[in-house]
Amino acid sequence: MCAARSIVLIGFMGTGKSSVGKILENQSSLDRFDTDEMISSKFSMPIQEIFSKYGEEKFREAEMEALRSLAGKQSAIIVTGGGIVTKAENVDLLRELGTVVWLDGDYETLRARIDRLGDRPLLQTPDPPASLSELLEARNPLYRNAADIRVDISQKTSEEIAELILRNIRNFPIGE
Ligand code: S3P
Repeated sequence: MCAARSIVLIGFMGTGKSSVGKILENQSSLDRFDTDEMISSKFSMPIQEIFSKYGEEKFREAEMEALRSLAGKQSAIIVTGGGIVTKAENVDLLRELGTVVWLDGDYETLRARIDRLGDRPLLQTPDPPASLSELLEARNPLYRNAADIRVDISQKTSEEIAELILRNIRNFPIGE
């Protein structure tokens, strides 16, 4: 018997994973799970507050726990936080869950969105553009390593990205 094949979205903050996940949910018959939403509801507080009250490591533990809890469930749309690939165990879990789709945004595209990322704890630094650039450089190889499919998000709407994913995913079996 085949394991469940979900569509798993990974990528940097601001690449539109949440919006694309909602569109994919509407266009498929699959449920959607968002690890940030799961963690936030577990702690009953926004992510930013979890970081400031308990620290990043506690958040990362909760992130891994959320991912683990999805194993063995039916196929779904799974939306992850941008840092999920920083733990090797998470990458194994992601790959077991299904087809891993990397929403890849270049620095300029993300830089243009940075003001809207004001609630992201890791960009609350004296120089957010520099932090963005450093994090992006460190993370890109991790996304590349984890992904089955890469979608370049620059100059595309969330609808266009979702359509591209659905078109590409046909080569990967979804469902049980
Ligand atoms: C993080 C990204 C955020 C959230 C948390 C940490 C990261 O999710 O999980 O602030 O380490 O890149 P988004 O990618 O949805 O912004």
